[in-house]
Amino acid sequence: MCGIVGYIGERQAKSILLGCLAKLEYRGYDSCGIALASSNLEVYKDAVRVGELAKVSPQLDGRAGVGHTRWATHGEPSQVNAHPHCDCTGKITVVHNGIINNFQSLRQKLTGEGHKFVSETDTEVIPHLIEKYYQGNLEKAVETALLDVEGSYAIIVLMAGEPRLIAARKDSPLIIGIGDRENFVASDVPAILDYTDRVIYLEDGDITVITKGSIRVNRGGVEIDWKEHKISWSVEDAQKAGYEHFMLKEIHEQPKVIRDTLVGYVSTAEPVIDIADASLEGMLLLACGTSYHAALLGKYIAEELLRIPVRAELASEFNSYSQTLTTPVSIAITQSGETADTLKAMKRLKETGHKVLVITNVVGSTASRIANQTIYTRAGPEISVAATKSFMAQLMVLYWLTMSYSKVDATRVADMIVGLRQLPSKVQQVLDNEDRILECARYLSRYENVFFAGRGINFPVALEGALKLKEISYIHAEGYAAGELKHGPFALLCADTPVIAIVAQDNTYKAMLTNIREVKARGSPVIALAEEGDEAIEELADSVITVPRVDAIFSPVVNTVALQLLAYYTAKQRGCPIDFPRNLAKSVTVE
Ligand code: F6R
Repeated sequence: MCGIVGYIGERQAKSILLGCLAKLEYRGYDSCGIALASSNLEVYKDAVRVGELAKVSPQLDGRAGVGHTRWATHGEPSQVNAHPHCDCTGKITVVHNGIINNFQSLRQKLTGEGHKFVSETDTEVIPHLIEKYYQGNLEKAVETALLDVEGSYAIIVLMAGEPRLIAARKDSPLIIGIGDRENFVASDVPAILDYTDRVIYLEDGDITVITKGSIRVNRGGVEIDWKEHKISWSVEDAQKAGYEHFMLKEIHEQPKVIRDTLVGYVSTAEPVIDIADASLEGMLLLACGTSYHAALLGKYIAEELLRIPVRAELASEFNSYSQTLTTPVSIAITQSGETADTLKAMKRLKETGHKVLVITNVVGSTASRIANQTIYTRAGPEISVAATKSFMAQLMVLYWLTMSYSKVDATRVADMIVGLRQLPSKVQQVLDNEDRILECARYLSRYENVFFAGRGINFPVALEGALKLKEISYIHAEGYAAGELKHGPFALLCADTPVIAIVAQDNTYKAMLTNIREVKARGSPVIALAEEGDEAIEELADSVITVPRVDAIFSPVVNTVALQLLAYYTAKQRGCPIDFPRNLAKSVTVE
């Protein structure tokens, strides 16, 4: 997720823009840039930190400008792919946050009309479209250009010789900051809080014209009376968008992450797995930690939909012994793209003549350079050490990938597509049930040992629930296949060892109820995670967290979100440093 800022006023724009961009650094980025306009347009950008850009950019002059921190999605981090992007004349420039889904067809059309593109980005089509439609009225040209664009955007447009900024949004946040003989535009409140606490929140479809002394907001073709809001947060609060921790913010971002991933992939017909043997006879999934749990879920999903044998392996174990590999498709999953064990496994596969596809969240990461093919997840930067939204994005890619090659009948796939599209609102329902989860977390926080039990596709969810709980609350937690509890762990069950039972409405349901009865008979309290309307479970378990009804294949999505919240509130109750747990790092670059 990129950060964008704009300034127009009486002060030198360069230092203000760099100050605003510095306040967006916490979100993570790989490159940055600014453009300033007077009678000419000056652009300065590179794959560097904001501090370096400040040091090396020349003394640019201008009282209006735009700035950008980029988190690469289309094209690797580089000077040419950094924003701002310009049209052919070099007079119109744009900063953009979002994804233009139809950029390839627009680019093709514009190239045919004589436009020259220099970057690999989706954004670059916007200044060219504005150039195409410009006939002396910049606002009109932006409005017309946006009619051609499909996808999400928050943009700020600047043109040499035009003392105004044009800003517009659709499905990406954008605010205006009101100053004294100066105004600001930004994707996020923290960017401008050092300069003003007076803001206007823009809505989808708004197009605004901002000068140093005026703000005009056009909504649905009509100029509206905008409303000013006062921000009472500190910069730090604002960076977390009002949430107490990044982890909670990132958990709450998941409906959007799901939507972005689905918009990016499911609705387009991008070719995938062109590295694969077309017969797709088997698959190897490799990863570590939470990404390994995504891989395990991938195994369940792929075996059901593709009807092929799938191996999910811990990358560190895969590297620990030699084996004969006949699997035609190898897929590595790594949020950071820098996990040493996963990279080593990928290199090993390549050295033995195998092709590797990687699913990663970081464009240009080492994993993407090693892989023969890369699928990028669209989670945006994840700040909290504990992976939440990046896992969700991995899961979405795995659903989409396997559905694309599915061997089950077309009606089943059509039903699944409907189910997939409902997931953002189903996840939102889980988030809206936070109070109930908080109650259970208060109860759980008193214990030092917890088991998580699930069956079938919810076994990996039990593993992930336990991992989240142990890493941020420091409670000893173990994930188990519910049927395995009786083969040893029963010896530990007692009143001091609660069991979180994940109960799905699928072929595992009856066996799961039996397992819960067995656990209760050994004295362990049971918190069940169950679908709404499940009356049997209400009678059986000590506490129940209900999740909305979904197709059983998607139950890991809603269940995982509930368990993320359970871990979060338990850790909060115990006063743990949630975003930065002891001894852990966001990117594990050693074996
Ligand atoms: C747990 C967590 C880790 C990572 C693991 C792999 O919340 O974040 O277990 O999942 O270190 O990291 P990536 O996905 O970057 O390879």
